Amino acid sequence: MQGGIYKCLSMIAERITANKDFLTELDREIGDSDHGINMARGFQAVMEKLSPDDTDIGATLKKTGMTLLSKVGGASGPLYGTAYMEAGKITAGKTELTPEDMKAVLEAAIAGIQKRGKAVRGEKTMLDAIIPAAETFSAKIAEGSDMAGALEAACESAKEGVEYTKTIIATKGRASYLGERSIGHQDPGATSAMITLEAIRDFMKGA
Ligand SMILES: Nc1ncnc2c1ncn2[C@@H]1O[C@H](COP(=O)(O)OP(=O)(O)OP(=O)(O)O)[C@@H](O)[C@H]1O
Ligand SMILES: [Mg+2]
Repeated sequence: MQGGIYKCLSMIAERITANKDFLTELDREIGDSDHGINMARGFQAVMEKLSPDDTDIGATLKKTGMTLLSKVGGASGPLYGTAYMEAGKITAGKTELTPEDMKAVLEAAIAGIQKRGKAVRGEKTMLDAIIPAAETFSAKIAEGSDMAGALEAACESAKEGVEYTKTIIATKGRASYLGERSIGHQDPGATSAMITLEAIRDFMKGA
């Protein structure tokens, strides 16, 4: 991870902030109009806590997770917070990630989200973007793809996952109150997950 974990998280924060209104608008349609606000507030707090001297990937991801857990209310703060914390646990002391490490990071993040939120694929949540992305990433590196190539393909799968959320009924979170009326709308959390993965992809490309 050339440029370091600080740069990568700065890029995630930048993209989330740039998409604040878009994410909030998506959440207005099937939720309570706060997803972009929650995520942007969380990442602003994260950037206040981090410094360019943070090079230990595990420690930095843990700090990120703890900040999201403590600063962001709603469902997404604890869910993303747990994802970053779990990713941090398995990358302690590392300053670079191999494709195998990245595979483990994605799997740990998913396990954290599922432990906390008890959702499975197909419930119109962030998992519908992250799980297919992680599966594609693993398949690509098994075929011998490098990090950049595997992330590129993973982002395509995340995008397809976001599109898929338009076709299904929400059964978790506030959107589930809408029942069938949630069909036709893309899930805000799946969208922020896709944006996060795209930022990681672009970080890896540009570094
Ligand atoms: N149990 C869950 N597991 C995984 N993701 C979830 C779960 N519940 C909600 N989400 C995700 O959180 C997103 C909403 O995040 P937001 O920041 O708006 O928090 P919120 O308003 O408290 O959420 P919600 O109203 O869905 O409980 C949803 O779009 C969905 O992707
Ligand atoms: Mg909301």
